[in-house]
Formats: sequence, structure tokens, C-alpha cells
Amino acid sequence: MAEQARDERFDHLFASPVRERLERGGYASSATPAADDAVPLTYGFPYPDSFPTAELVAATETVLEEEGADVLQYGGGEYVERLHDGLLARERARGIDATRDELFVTNGATYALDAIASTFLDPGDEVLVESPTFVWSLSVLDNRGAELTGVDLDEAGLDPDALEATLDAREAAGEPTPKLLYTIPEFQNPTGATLTRERRERVLELADEYDFLIVADDAYGELRFGGESPPPLAAMDDSGRVIRVGTVSKTIAPGVRTGWVVADEPLIEQIGTMAAGGTNTFTQSVLGRYIDAGHYQPTLERLLDGYEKRRDAMLDALERHLPPGASWTEPEGGFFLWVTLPEGVDTEELLPRAAEEGVTYLPGQRFFVGDDGRGTRSARLSFSHCTPEELEAGVAALGRAAAAQLE
Ligand SMILES: Cc1ncc(COP(=O)(O)O)c(C=O)c1O
Repeated sequence: MAEQARDERFDHLFASPVRERLERGGYASSATPAADDAVPLTYGFPYPDSFPTAELVAATETVLEEEGADVLQYGGGEYVERLHDGLLARERARGIDATRDELFVTNGATYALDAIASTFLDPGDEVLVESPTFVWSLSVLDNRGAELTGVDLDEAGLDPDALEATLDAREAAGEPTPKLLYTIPEFQNPTGATLTRERRERVLELADEYDFLIVADDAYGELRFGGESPPPLAAMDDSGRVIRVGTVSKTIAPGVRTGWVVADEPLIEQIGTMAAGGTNTFTQSVLGRYIDAGHYQPTLERLLDGYEKRRDAMLDALERHLPPGASWTEPEGGFFLWVTLPEGVDTEELLPRAAEEGVTYLPGQRFFVGDDGRGTRSARLSFSHCTPEELEAGVAALGRAAAAQLE
């Protein structure tokens, strides 16, 4: 089908991050072939039955009945505070002893990252990111004019040796130290890797030594269905250098658009002032009631079961359907795994054929900063959204497409 040309009349009026993105095709390219019948392993969407709909209906009714107009007013009512209490209690359970003044509730983790970026970054400021990392976060940082440098990551998470080498090289070249390191320490998007405890210690030491802040995006930490969690970076941090980002997108629902930032008070104060337009206190009230009514933990336990089944179904299917020479990560939680296909397969080129066979995914190279040719044999597969049967069919289609390209 012929593609319609984009209307370019007002391109000269766009801000430079928009113009540059249009020119280079840009980060966060999520273009996948239109394939209605294909199994979508593309996005990190929760599975439809995961949502606690009845509990959210009840919570909404309660806050409207009990708080009347207050819940709809700027700032909301008492249940907004209850959400703060509930989130602080959950953070405490993970070893993070934050106060009310060290917590800022936002309209989701992405919004939190945007507020953090606008608090710390001038155009041209350097930010270190994992290579590969979550494409939408690259986009948010890019929007603020950040210069992004990728640091290698393996199955044990961000590589502190690579981080130190990057910092050393910049220092030796007389370049300024990056202001921020953006990391996803738990069940990383896209690889599923979790940063080991030893590496966490090194990363914290390097932040102190080289004077930068660590933005730890913990979208998936509560979704662990096996093994042991290392303490979150914020729980190990004595120097106040960790800005922790959380979200209920994966544990309740992304549609409620609620996340948070935990950091030292002087940082939270400024991040709060940069979050333009305020946050959604109506939804926060509903979630305050939801947590108060005791729904968070039982829902989470149900989800752990649902995601573990899906992860297992995908691992099982990969074993049976991928050609010899393929490899993949085996995360103990989260939404994604990272598959690397044998030499000779290019996942970007493979995508249209894969869609015809019956599966879509995000090609690996889209998760890397710059166009350095990495990730071309890899792909992020999401096991969060589909049923185990669909995952089986999707992986089988990937196997057929890869085998055909190898021939
Ligand atoms: C690492 C990471 N951060 C943030 C988000 C988005 O969070 P939110 O929906 O709260 O903006 C995602 C979701 O895909 C994610 O994978």
C-alpha cells in the first residue's frame, strides 16, 4: 500500500529535538508493519485480565461519596495523602526509609523522568544511559536536549567497568562529567537483566567519585516471580545521589497514569516545581482508597502468577522453535526478554516477514543510542500482554521467519 506523504508545511516551526528526530527517523521508533493477525510481542502492555477493574470501580465510588467536591478540586482531599502513606509503606518494605517530603507523586514514571530531566538538564548536558535501554526514556531525555552516551550492559546489568572507562575517558579528554546516569536496575527494559548487588555498590561509588546523580527507574522491581532481589539502589545510597522513580503502571494499570519520585528533599522540592500543570489528584485519590482497602498486595500476587506463566510459556516456546545458535535472557521477573538470533539474521529486515508469519516485536537496534550497528541480531520480546497460547504461536512464527531468512 502506498504511504501518504507527511505534511511538512510547518516543519520549520518545530523545536529542534522534533526536527532532528524527524530527520533521523529518531529514537522511539515503534513502527511495526500493520499485521492485525500477528501476535504482538512488541509492547510492554499488561495482559487485559490483569486489571483490578472491580476494585477500582469500588474505590472510585467511595472517594466520590466520601470526599464530595474535595476529590475533584485542585489538590484533592484526604485520599491523596493516603496514597502517599501507602506508597511510603511499600517503599519501606523494600528498604527505603523515605519521608513524606522525599516523595513526589507524578502522572506516571515517564512524567517523572521528564520532570527530572527538566530539573537538571540544560541543552547539551551529558546523560549516561544503558546500552541498550528503554526507547521512550531516550526520547524524553532527547526532548530536553540531552547528549546521550551509552554504557554497556550484560546479563548482570550495567557494567561498572564500562561506566568507569567512559567517565575516565571523558575526564581525560577534558569533557564535563555527565550530570545524570539513567538506569533500570530491575528486570531492565529491554533485556530483563537485573543489576547485581556488587555492581550496585560500584555504581554508587562511581557516582560519588565523579559527582553525578543516578536516576533509577524501577518500573518492574515488584514483579519478581523467582530468586532474590538485591536491595534497590536507593536503599544502599548514603550520599543522596539516587533519584528513584516508581510507577503503578505494571502493578495496577498504566491508564491510571500514576508514578512517583523518591529523592532527598532539596531535590524533590525542585523536581516538584518543574512538573508543570500539577498531577492527577483524582486518580491519586482513587488509588489512595484502593491501597487503603487492601487491594494492592492481593492484586500483585495474582499478577505475579499471570506473568510467571507467560514467561515460562515464552521460554518453553523459544527452546522449541528458535534455530540453533539463538540465545535469550531468562529474567526472573518483569515483562521482557532479549533474544539474539544466529549470525546472518537482521531483526529489522526480518520484521515484515515475521509479521507475515504471524508475529511482531521490536528490533534490538532501536534500543541503542546512535546508529552503531549494535543489536541488529537481537529483539525485545514482551511476554506481558499475550496469552500463553498466543506466545507459543508468536515464537513459532519468529522461528519460521528466522529459519527462512537464514536459508
Ligand atoms: C523502564 C520503564 N520505565 C517507565 C515505563 C513507563 O512507565 P509509566 O507508564 O509510569 O510512564 C516503562 C513502561 O514501559 C518502562 O519499561
